[in-house]
Amino acid sequence: MRTGFFNEREQIMNENFICENINVNEEGHLTFAGLDTSDLAATFQTPVYLMDEERIRVNCRAYTEAFKEHFGGESRPLYASKANSFKYIYKIMKEEGMGIDVVSGGEILCAYKAGYDLSKAFFHSNNKTDADIAFAMDLGIGHFVVDGFEELYAIEEEAARRDMVQDILLRITPGIDPHTYVQVNTGTVDSKFGTAIETGQADEIIEAALGLPHIHLNGFHCHVGSQVFAEDVFERAAVVMVKYIAHINRKYGYLAPILNMGGGFGVRYVDTDPYLDVSKKIADLAEAIHATCEREGIPVPTIIMEPGRSIVADAGMTLYTVGSVKRIPYYKNYVSVDGGMSDNPRYALYGSKYTCYTANRMNEERDMNCNVVGRCCESGDIIQRDVQLPSDTQRGDIVAVCTTGAYNYSMASNYNKIPMPPIVMITDGQAKEVVRRQTFEDLISLDVD
Ligand code: LLP
Repeated sequence: MRTGFFNEREQIMNENFICENINVNEEGHLTFAGLDTSDLAATFQTPVYLMDEERIRVNCRAYTEAFKEHFGGESRPLYASKANSFKYIYKIMKEEGMGIDVVSGGEILCAYKAGYDLSKAFFHSNNKTDADIAFAMDLGIGHFVVDGFEELYAIEEEAARRDMVQDILLRITPGIDPHTYVQVNTGTVDSKFGTAIETGQADEIIEAALGLPHIHLNGFHCHVGSQVFAEDVFERAAVVMVKYIAHINRKYGYLAPILNMGGGFGVRYVDTDPYLDVSKKIADLAEAIHATCEREGIPVPTIIMEPGRSIVADAGMTLYTVGSVKRIPYYKNYVSVDGGMSDNPRYALYGSKYTCYTANRMNEERDMNCNVVGRCCESGDIIQRDVQLPSDTQRGDIVAVCTTGAYNYSMASNYNKIPMPPIVMITDGQAKEVVRRQTFEDLISLDVD
């Protein structure tokens, strides 16, 4: 169990729940961040994404404090905003002293409009268009994380046109298998991301970058994958990268000032997932980096990481209203809710696990096996298979899906022209919409009559 509680609320936490910020009140209702989820569903309607501001801040501080302790100097964590991007979250990141990583013009604009200082932002993507590059420079992006040769030359050209020098990192593929699901594996040599060490292409792109007058190469980046639990994956990646920095120093006399180790720490979605202690993981990583730098005889670079999921996942919960409970004797039970793959496509895409509850029947026995399914017109629209819910679950009940703070809102779609839910932020016991619900009018507002 995590230590270092942020307030008393969590100290009375029942350890049987998947996240520390959920509990049950006297009425037998599930609570989230101290508030009754049935009340929240009544006030804001469903489906609704809930977010716990305090939990986001606690998660940020686990990183900022561990970085201060184990690396110091300019080393810092960035929030990978692809996990969940909306204006309010960039305000939190600013207040928590977090850098950010962004992957598109949309994320850049959102952060900018939230008043986030983009000189602290790192711009990723394996295919930045000329328009993206110009837009990012217009708004003063700090670093581009360059994925390949074409992008490198496109940035050089645009920077030359503006008579400026652009800071970049080069994304290097270290050849490490993170042992996670294939859709989020990026560390191996055959990845679409980055330039591989193994093929010699990484050396070539570094040599090219060092020769460009409008490019300032500020170091290297790698990201091996997401939802990573396997032992020492990050340490092994760090050893490869530090040795590589030393190799490039010997070969070109270039000593990389920054090493960005990407994101990827796994989070608990179900009881069988392990709990990763971020402070401990960062301590282990720091040890591997310090030891390898010493062996290679190079100074420890400024270390950056860019966690997304582990900052926001357990700060989120989605509430739905049950529309029907279909029982097919001897076969299956279906609990249909008023959202689905349009607000959470992760089961459909990756078979991702989630913990679900009937939020207003928490004191009842969970004696019905069912699939919790959405309202979209396809059979693959499943939130979770083989869930245990109370057999009295019926139309009008509230189903809560836990740990939905990462890659749910950010991956939502308007499939079947279903409006996206609002995001309700809970701060000090007060709930308020920070992203409003889409309306039908919003959905047709781009159509030209
Ligand atoms: N940095 C880079 C370069 C990345 O590509 C990613 C995630 C991160 C940082 C953040 O990784 P995290 O700490 O969140 O694991 N949609 C998938 C996840 C895709 C992750 C893509 N890159 C899912 O829902 O599981």
